[in-house]
Amino acid sequence: MIGLGTMGRNLVFNMNDHGYSVAGFDKDVVQVEKLKKEAGSRKVLGLSTLAGFVKALKVPRVILMLVPAGKVVDAVIEELKPLLSADDLLMDCGNSHFSDTDRRDGELKKSTIHFMGVGISGGEAGARYGPSIMPGGPKAIYLRVAPMLEAVSAKVNDEPCVTWLGPGSAGHYVKMVHNGIEYGLMQLISEAYDLLKLAGKMDNDALHGVFSGWNKGRLQSYLMEITAEIFVQKDALTSGRLVDMILDSTDQNGTGAWTSQDALNLKVPVPNIDIAVSMRNVSAYKTDREHFQYSFKGPEMTLSGDIRELADNLEQALYFSMTATYIQGMALLGAASAKYAYQFPMEGIAKIWRGGCIIRAALLDDICSAFARQPELATLLSDEVFAAKLMQTQKAIRQVIQTGVREGIPLPGMMGALAWFDSYRSGWLPANLVQAQRDYFGAHTYKRNDRAGIFHTLWAEKSQ
Ligand code: 6PG
Repeated sequence: MIGLGTMGRNLVFNMNDHGYSVAGFDKDVVQVEKLKKEAGSRKVLGLSTLAGFVKALKVPRVILMLVPAGKVVDAVIEELKPLLSADDLLMDCGNSHFSDTDRRDGELKKSTIHFMGVGISGGEAGARYGPSIMPGGPKAIYLRVAPMLEAVSAKVNDEPCVTWLGPGSAGHYVKMVHNGIEYGLMQLISEAYDLLKLAGKMDNDALHGVFSGWNKGRLQSYLMEITAEIFVQKDALTSGRLVDMILDSTDQNGTGAWTSQDALNLKVPVPNIDIAVSMRNVSAYKTDREHFQYSFKGPEMTLSGDIRELADNLEQALYFSMTATYIQGMALLGAASAKYAYQFPMEGIAKIWRGGCIIRAALLDDICSAFARQPELATLLSDEVFAAKLMQTQKAIRQVIQTGVREGIPLPGMMGALAWFDSYRSGWLPANLVQAQRDYFGAHTYKRNDRAGIFHTLWAEKSQ
């Protein structure tokens, strides 16, 4: 293992728990010492020189890297290359951009070293006790390490949360979309919190109760579970709750934006991911927001009526919008599978997301079943089970959004999900007008709905 940060170190011990003797390397001696100390008498070696590390490994070598994405990955590969021999395998397990993985794969193909891009999800606990693992690369090479990856991965119904996802950057693509969905879900959950806290005037204990309750039903998911726990975490520095002391401005490492960027390239609508990225950006404009809160007075908050009814509608609205987010992400995977020739196993992806990863959720069982029924499904909107669930919950999300609008509480994720749904169920959209405008000002031509061909009109302004 190259890179002994939180993820790397925990994976080392996870592999060791399953009978593998592991060597760990880090440039930072503090991390090496930490590993050695925790290792005690286990078959775990800590090394602070790359040459010593490479020497310690059995050939053909299997090397995992968990270092920050970007230049560091390239630097490690450069330093490592002259030390490796034919048939060695290098696995980049960080959040690398899929195009970087393809480039590195191309470069390493010139040598006799094998390369795999592997997504790993689950944070610290996942790395230690069983993450969801998303490997891509040559299948024959994957099979060499499959027993080890299966051993360390999370299990659901005794099935390992790892499967070969396709050639080249397939694994990193799937991990990127996993993170895009993660962004979308986190945004939706935070909107529910906002509405219950501000309009519903719920305190943290009440919020804990509502979110724990939701986590017992169809919204059961890792993110719902940790959200419920967050509300009851005491602050170590004051007498309050930690959540109330955390700055309302959030950072990001890029994977959510990458998902949106590639979805734009592939022309697949993923509004819930786009909105989540934008809202993280809005959150970072803290100074502006603090200023404008006095300039732009919104409506008085007047929520009256049954809070339980609001919470019940929110449960349905969350179900609707979280489902929409998964549907958008799966549609992007479907399009990428064709475009980049990954040939993704769609049911397999839903299966390995059921355990270990951040977006694990009860809902994924339904996604697995839908792809088991129809492996070629282009959109889960065509699956009758999903169609019925969206139909059952659409009334509630409309009500929740009305409440948000009336109270002046932003619910862009929920609005985006509903608008996406309303657009998909509209046989007619006002894009005829957009076509007309393009042709008017730019002679871009248009298509007609009553006959084939390409048309252009000399519109009023031009004919004058
Ligand atoms: C995971 C997480 C992990 C990381 C995210 C955070 O699957 O374990 O997604 O990869 O926590 O990259 O992303 P941001 O820093 O962009 O929120």
